Amino acid sequence: MGSNLYVLLKQKQFTLGEYESLVLKYGLSGVWDALIQLLKELGIEEFGNKYVDFYDIGRLYEIGLAVENKYSKKEAGKYYTPKDVSDLMADLLIENSDINHIADVGCGCGNLIIEVLQKIKDKSDLLFKTISHEIYIYDLDKTAIKICKARISVLFNLHENNIHAVCGDFLSKKVKIPEDCYIISNPPYSQIKVIDSGWEFKSAITESKDLYVGFIEKMIRNAKKAVIVSPQSYIVGSKFSGIRKILFESGCGEIYSFDNVPGTLFNGRKQGVFNTNTANGVRASVLVFNKSETKGYHLTHLIRFKTDEREKIININYVKNQLGLVAQDLTRPLKCFKELEDFVYSVRSNKTFEDLVEKKISEQNSKYCVHINSSARYFIVGSAKELNRNGNIDLYAKDEKSFYLLYALLNSSYAYLWWRMFDGGILVPKNLLLQIPLPRKCVFDSHTVDFCKEMIRNENKYLVYKKNAGIMQESIKFPNKYREELNKMMFGDVCFELIHSNKELL
Ligand SMILES: C[S@@+](CC[C@H](N)C(=O)[O-])C[C@H]1O[C@@H](n2cnc3c(N)ncnc32)[C@H](O)[C@@H]1O
Repeated sequence: MGSNLYVLLKQKQFTLGEYESLVLKYGLSGVWDALIQLLKELGIEEFGNKYVDFYDIGRLYEIGLAVENKYSKKEAGKYYTPKDVSDLMADLLIENSDINHIADVGCGCGNLIIEVLQKIKDKSDLLFKTISHEIYIYDLDKTAIKICKARISVLFNLHENNIHAVCGDFLSKKVKIPEDCYIISNPPYSQIKVIDSGWEFKSAITESKDLYVGFIEKMIRNAKKAVIVSPQSYIVGSKFSGIRKILFESGCGEIYSFDNVPGTLFNGRKQGVFNTNTANGVRASVLVFNKSETKGYHLTHLIRFKTDEREKIININYVKNQLGLVAQDLTRPLKCFKELEDFVYSVRSNKTFEDLVEKKISEQNSKYCVHINSSARYFIVGSAKELNRNGNIDLYAKDEKSFYLLYALLNSSYAYLWWRMFDGGILVPKNLLLQIPLPRKCVFDSHTVDFCKEMIRNENKYLVYKKNAGIMQESIKFPNKYREELNKMMFGDVCFELIHSNKELL
């Protein structure tokens, strides 16, 4: 069957349609056995001209996986890393490093390790030679690991036997990783139901039930340095406190976070034989971990970029320049704009919005309700008017003063700033709102209250309507000048405009 396929692939013109039908007929591993043979035989250039560009092999393999089983692809969390992201991660791994062993965990077709090896080779042939016997690749998928090995071997002219390939469950106790290794990884993302008794580290994954968390723990327990791209849920959710504690106690580093709209880190570009849209909506972050006695992590704000800004944003100089100066302990990570760090750390108090509200509705506080539209892409709106829509959060203020303070903080940039630093998704959960710290210093006087009263009188003027899933949703869109006036009145000159933009480069 294999040689049959090889002949077929040699004779026919290769298109995505042809590939998909071959995968359906012969199976993915058969098709790739033949393609690997052709890669080795033809070399990178000719293979690229006839079949697929060397750097798009991972993507073609991923399409094959989707064809073979539409559903299991997502469950296994197999998303290839685009070239620009691999390039950024490789730069982050190599800088200030003294690499001896190098590992790619969940290597797939090898996009990440290939980028690292290429950079090492470009830097020094001697260094490349030294580490060329110390390359470790790990994956559960036999075919992917075969492709990875073949690509490394063809590109760098290395004998496959010199590459340490481990095919199996990375979390298993049986799978070993060299101590003090340099690791690059895009681990699988999927929810797990059962904790396998054969796994080596169980605490963080038991708390979160996220496969990638188990990978992060095992990697940082063994790494001297690791660069890992993953969902950013571990810096947000309470069920990830275990992994954050382990990260903090094990060393220091950086976390670069990216929004998924308008542009997304795992971007599917249309080119060559591809005409599919493979964009994936994960809100990702890149973690750089260094084993060290020094503790603490520097974070970027949630980088929200437009697709046409991608080239300028996804590079080491740009992202490093966005890091905050504060080394955080990760108890409650803040994705803060570095320009706003001074303000944020000086303004927050131990009290929170929760101190302004009453849990139970009483006759006394029922007139002090602030209604909040829970979808908050670019700003948060609180209103005295109850809106005819789904997704409203009602906060009942304790008294009149608390009501106006809540109204002012919600409609200024203040609440939105905290939401973007804590999370920054699309919806504002009520719990998160309640945890926003009250400002230690802000001007809240009769002028502020009068201004809020004027806004309340005008709420009806700024009603807007949008259909969502066939149902008309009512919201309020105040003119920006209201928010700007509240900001100025309460906080003076703070550069809040940064946080409301839908692009990164202003
Ligand atoms: C998100 S993909 C990344 C692929 C590749 N590193 C890249 O960046 O393009 C995750 C990889 O982890 C592998 N994987 C899934 N579960 C695994 C496990 N338990 N042990 C080892 N590898 C696993 C998948 O086969 C897949 O290749």
